Amino acid sequence: MITRLTRLLGIRHPIIQAGMSLVSYVPLAAAVSNAGGLGILTASDQDPSDLRENIRKVRSLTDRPFGVNAVPYMPGYRELVQVILEERVPVFSHGLGNPFKLLNLKKPDEMVFMPTAGTVDQAVYMEKEGADAVIVHGFEGGGHVGHIASSVIIPKAAECLRVPVIASGGFCDGRGLASALALGAAGIAMGTRFFATQECPVHSRAKDAVIRASEKEAIVTQKIDGLRLRGIPGSLLKHYRGWPSRPWEVIPGILNNAKGSKISVREMLRIIIEFRRYRMPAVQFICGCARFRHTFSEGRVDDGFTVSGQVAGRIHDIPCCQELIERIVREAEETIKSLHQNLAV
Ligand SMILES: Cc1cc2nc3c(=O)[nH]c(=O)nc-3n(C[C@H](O)[C@H](O)[C@H](O)COP(=O)(O)O)c2cc1C
Repeated sequence: MITRLTRLLGIRHPIIQAGMSLVSYVPLAAAVSNAGGLGILTASDQDPSDLRENIRKVRSLTDRPFGVNAVPYMPGYRELVQVILEERVPVFSHGLGNPFKLLNLKKPDEMVFMPTAGTVDQAVYMEKEGADAVIVHGFEGGGHVGHIASSVIIPKAAECLRVPVIASGGFCDGRGLASALALGAAGIAMGTRFFATQECPVHSRAKDAVIRASEKEAIVTQKIDGLRLRGIPGSLLKHYRGWPSRPWEVIPGILNNAKGSKISVREMLRIIIEFRRYRMPAVQFICGCARFRHTFSEGRVDDGFTVSGQVAGRIHDIPCCQELIERIVREAEETIKSLHQNLAV
């Protein structure tokens, strides 16, 4: 399936595996790129030398284009971006702002810069800032979300932007891809759908939590990491007050995070100072990360939080990436051909 997006990225199908912190590591990113989509490696929870090694691993597993995702509040952000540039990663996917402006760096001409926007204004701003394509993320999506539904933000962004718009938030199948193209997007980016695939390196209990959940269960809450985060709270979190503030809640969270993420206490203090710049609640964020980490790596879903979109309610299987992408493309083509059947005569 050829669109402006497949031409821009040099991929076979207009399907992107969205960057997912603590989730989209080498096996998933490589599998998606090998299946003809665009796999995106997350830069989260790695020091610069780990990231360099992982970028090289993806390259050794696929000869197709791939991307790396970073967000400015990741520990070691500046050094991680430096590695992304030095390793000449083909596609730089970025959440929250323009990394080149933030760090006073020049965007390499050959690199595709593909930021995410949660409002039309942000999308227009990112185009002005030199984005080659913009991922437009609707409110129903997994992870940190804004307030606007995909069905509104995608066509509006497509009307305002000259660069390709990539529809994100709530897509999982061929009907979704066909609808995204009808709304003016040049392709889709999916997080939750790729979370529930065989190659996704998270604990099977976390994948099961996604395929068992109904669309009502993936809620937005600020109680986990202090930001507007969509996901499925574990049953033991039902009465969770959130916003840990007492020492006996905060200290284990910080220590747990330091243990799991290889971040030194010094680096953690640096992040806390950095967070003030973004007016982000650093302590809550750090404790929240510890909570996802044990959900994803140890399968502790009951006292954890499975980051996921509402689309979990439409996901019922755990296919491999090749099977999933082929199925989505086949269904989208069939949907487009048979649309006229929906018209009453
Ligand atoms: C587990 C998970 C982790 C995520 N982490 C990030 C991240 O680190 N950076 C980012 O830009 N977006 C992140 N997102 C958002 C995705 O990139 C994507 O925009 C979203 O998943 C699309 O909605 P969907 O889940 O309905 O497909 C995450 C989403 C999920 C489900």
